Amino acid sequence: MAAKVFLTHRLPGERVHELARACDLNVWMGPGLLSAADLRAELAGCQGLVCLLTDRIDRALLDAAPDLRFVSSMSVGVDHVDVQALTERGIPLGHTPGVLVETTADTAFALLMAAARRLGEADRFVRQGSWTADTAWAPDFFTGKDVNGATLGIVGLGAIGQAVARRALGFGMRVVAWNRTPRAVPGVELLALEELLALSDFVSVHVALSADTRQLLDADKIALMKPGAVLVNTARGGIVDEAALAVALGEGRLFAAGIDVFEREPVAADNPLLGLPNVVLAPHIGSATQGTRALMADMAAANALAALRGEHMPCCVNPSVYDQL
Ligand code: DGY
Repeated sequence: MAAKVFLTHRLPGERVHELARACDLNVWMGPGLLSAADLRAELAGCQGLVCLLTDRIDRALLDAAPDLRFVSSMSVGVDHVDVQALTERGIPLGHTPGVLVETTADTAFALLMAAARRLGEADRFVRQGSWTADTAWAPDFFTGKDVNGATLGIVGLGAIGQAVARRALGFGMRVVAWNRTPRAVPGVELLALEELLALSDFVSVHVALSADTRQLLDADKIALMKPGAVLVNTARGGIVDEAALAVALGEGRLFAAGIDVFEREPVAADNPLLGLPNVVLAPHIGSATQGTRALMADMAAANALAALRGEHMPCCVNPSVYDQL
């Protein structure tokens, strides 16, 4: 009998068709996001799960799915999954690193530029009809911050951080970085996190969210940032203290921010960042190009297909489960 696999959203790409031929595939068709209760109900009796970063895979869910043999997430980040609980059960977790690096770096740089040059405010200004003869071009009209010649501090020098560094060097920036494990990258100067924050005109966050990095940029660290700096976060919301950031932006201690990820997603209407004109906001679209999303989906399907064949997943977060066999 074919293995039962639950897919929590329709996927782009080609390999999902191969997956459909290789198992008894049940796809959630909505409407809207899958609730925890629906996920639990749909997963009953399934050997495989292909999920998104919006699905919470925790111990309670795993306890209710004793037949589960693999999980494949269409994401590089796996903070929505209790990896330890999966590992304890010998369940491999697949993810999708690599293919979204350049696209996410583009988003980070787009937010950096937009925040520096106040593009969100400028767009609203024109659209709302505020651009009149009384408020026309003037020497101090919509002045922003120069990117060329400024210092960019990269927090987390993994693949995406390095891709952002390449862009910044091309824009004539000085690039400094902090990484927990020092790594040599051409053109990038390594600094302690505190030094980086004090020195950088722009700070871009590129660490994964884990117990070690949760609130890495808390109120104390935000207070260390250079006055007038810009913060960009395309990693995960939980890494930055949003309330402290909002206070620093509201008081003008920081110039602006570009934020693609939030502690709670979809973002709550009362999130203090939403009311600030100097924050450019995006709804977690770092990897959102058609090409990249198709590659991510293909990789998620490839991980699932390998698991169905009884092989090791090509991109497994917890390969130690294979030693337990
Ligand atoms: C991921 O895959 O973790 C990204 O956040 C998606 O954009």
